[in-house]
Amino acid sequence: MTDFKRYLITAALPYANGPVHIGHLAGCYIPADIYSRYLRAQKRDVKFVGGSDEHGVPITIRAMKEGITPQQVVDKYHAIIRDSFVKMGISFDIYSRTSGKVHHETASAFFKKMYEDGLFEEKETEQYYDEKTKTFLADRYITGTCPVCANPNAYGDQCEKCGSSLSPEQLINPKSTLSDAVPVKKQTKHWYFPLQQYESFLRTWILDEHKEWKNNVYGQCKSWLDKGLQSRAMTRDSNWGIKVPVKGAEGKVLYVWFDAPIGYISATKELTGAWADYWCREDTKLVHFIGKDNIVFHCIIFPAMLKAHGGFVLPDNVPANEFLNIEGEKVSTSRNWAVWVDEYLKDFPGCEDVLRYVLCANAPETKDNDFTWKDFQDRNNSELVSIFGNFVNRTFVLMHKLCAGKVPKLHEDILDATDKAIMSDIQNARGKVETALENFRFRDALFEIIDLSRKGNKYMQEKQPWIVAKQTSTSGQPAADAQKIIDNCLHLCLQLTANLAVLINPFLPTTARKMLHMMKVVDKMLDWENAGKLKLLSVGYSLREPELLFRKIEDAEITAQVEKLKSGLVKPAKITSMEESKPGNGKPEIVYDDFAKLELKTGLVTACEKVEKADKLLKLEVDLGKERRTIVSGIALHYKPEEMIGKQVIVVTNLAPRKMKGIESQGMILTAEDSDGKLQLLTPENSVTPGSNVS
Ligand code: 2FM
Ligand code: ZN
Repeated sequence: MTDFKRYLITAALPYANGPVHIGHLAGCYIPADIYSRYLRAQKRDVKFVGGSDEHGVPITIRAMKEGITPQQVVDKYHAIIRDSFVKMGISFDIYSRTSGKVHHETASAFFKKMYEDGLFEEKETEQYYDEKTKTFLADRYITGTCPVCANPNAYGDQCEKCGSSLSPEQLINPKSTLSDAVPVKKQTKHWYFPLQQYESFLRTWILDEHKEWKNNVYGQCKSWLDKGLQSRAMTRDSNWGIKVPVKGAEGKVLYVWFDAPIGYISATKELTGAWADYWCREDTKLVHFIGKDNIVFHCIIFPAMLKAHGGFVLPDNVPANEFLNIEGEKVSTSRNWAVWVDEYLKDFPGCEDVLRYVLCANAPETKDNDFTWKDFQDRNNSELVSIFGNFVNRTFVLMHKLCAGKVPKLHEDILDATDKAIMSDIQNARGKVETALENFRFRDALFEIIDLSRKGNKYMQEKQPWIVAKQTSTSGQPAADAQKIIDNCLHLCLQLTANLAVLINPFLPTTARKMLHMMKVVDKMLDWENAGKLKLLSVGYSLREPELLFRKIEDAEITAQVEKLKSGLVKPAKITSMEESKPGNGKPEIVYDDFAKLELKTGLVTACEKVEKADKLLKLEVDLGKERRTIVSGIALHYKPEEMIGKQVIVVTNLAPRKMKGIESQGMILTAEDSDGKLQLLTPENSVTPGSNVS
């Protein structure tokens, strides 16, 4: 079916366990937003839904790390994430959350219907269990070596290195992430969804009927189907989540990947009473925007659930993007190798569209891509400032100077080949942008728009109205013919500018609105049907003075960002094993005198609190015998403030004081970092007097 009446656009629900980073934006939120804005500009009936994913192990682990409850975690990060989306112009019609009542009811009813229809297998199996913390070790509660790529830090549900989807049983050397207990096996009952029963439906639906899906998506689906599908547990032992709505399921909740995609349905329900039109009528086009790690859930598991439940439309497309690396390295939230959107917004106020531009122009649409701050600067300075912004600015400046601030006439009698060429460029751009957008090729679409402004600059350069203006008549004004040439050039450049506003609107909405303001026209002009028209601005209409659309980004701003990225990195183990510390394996060899320069003493922590607005920092008061010092330490993700009080620590006491978040840190406490990023304090084996020398 191609004649769709309604469009339902979803973007993956981010876990509310941390802020969003630019990889999230590039992966799905920016393309989903561009697509939704494009459809709205076409006056189509569109709903763009999203929300926070507030269940599952990612949330409970974060709660443990921060020493707060899961509810506090999701409340905190839902607000931060929502705020980042609003500021970045991600125009959700609703941004909901899966901890809400409507969602709990919807997901619960969905499960119940499948249960009552006999679609689950109830199985009692042995699963890994941590006896110390009394927890079954599913998903991210367990790590081990990946059987596919030998990554030693693979999770019980997935290896982030090679992307394989795993079960805890497949891990080599499984370890609990909650304690040092060796996992044991224990019986537990769960409800499994027999995916293999949907294999032939999925094969036909995806492999035969959706050959148009992006290669990366189609390829991943094919490989899953070729490997053969298996039953998958849709419940977990936990008390954080949606209770399993059947008898005998105490202490069990729905698997987060069962409930989260139903979140799209619940959010639509909250948005509109007509939600069923969007979810249950075949003439709705449902499009899921996601990152590549979510492909199996959106293309295989959720569609199989929808099919099993019955009565819902299936996605028409799932244009998943690949990953965006940062400065040549994979994003790692645990190592803090990421560009956080909330921080970008503070560091570059008013530059939301610049980030939208760079992340779209460099989107990982077909393969993983790299974001570098240098490329960010180059694209801003040489594409947005020097091409797009410069064209619009020159047009307005010259129109004020040479045409009295009004839209000049078009003198058809003297149109030459160059004028006619730019007129067809304006008319043709729309089709090129449309084709690219309809096929989810957002980079190509954006390129066409920048290319049109590049053509505008070239046209103006060829026409040189400022030179023509010097061909004066005896009155001191340009000669009549000269004025006509000027008029035509600026008339066409202004119509081109208006077209640029219409075309760029889905991509850079704030910029489009600044252009509307300069042209003194209302939002209506941005309707997509206006793209390609040559008479968007009326002759004689007076326009405002230009305002700069983009500012130059300076080298110092870029250096500061690179520095920030590197300094925020959680460093590899500060105290390494003997093997690793051999010269050549890390830092250069030093002589004893170098070591002797360090003054190390034992200290006793007497007070401790969190540092405001710094997730990772604790402020400690440390008794060093003869003196007390304030020390700021990056251990907040690993120790709660109250746990620190009374602990003995080793302090580097002759380190120059350093300000962190406005607090002077008067020393450094020593820690060791595990290969999985966990920090542990180094502490004397037995109690020693504070201030004792360490050597
Ligand atoms: O990968 C993630 O961040 C998941 N929270 C995405 C969920 S998408 C949907 F199913 F809700
Ligand atoms: Zn792997």
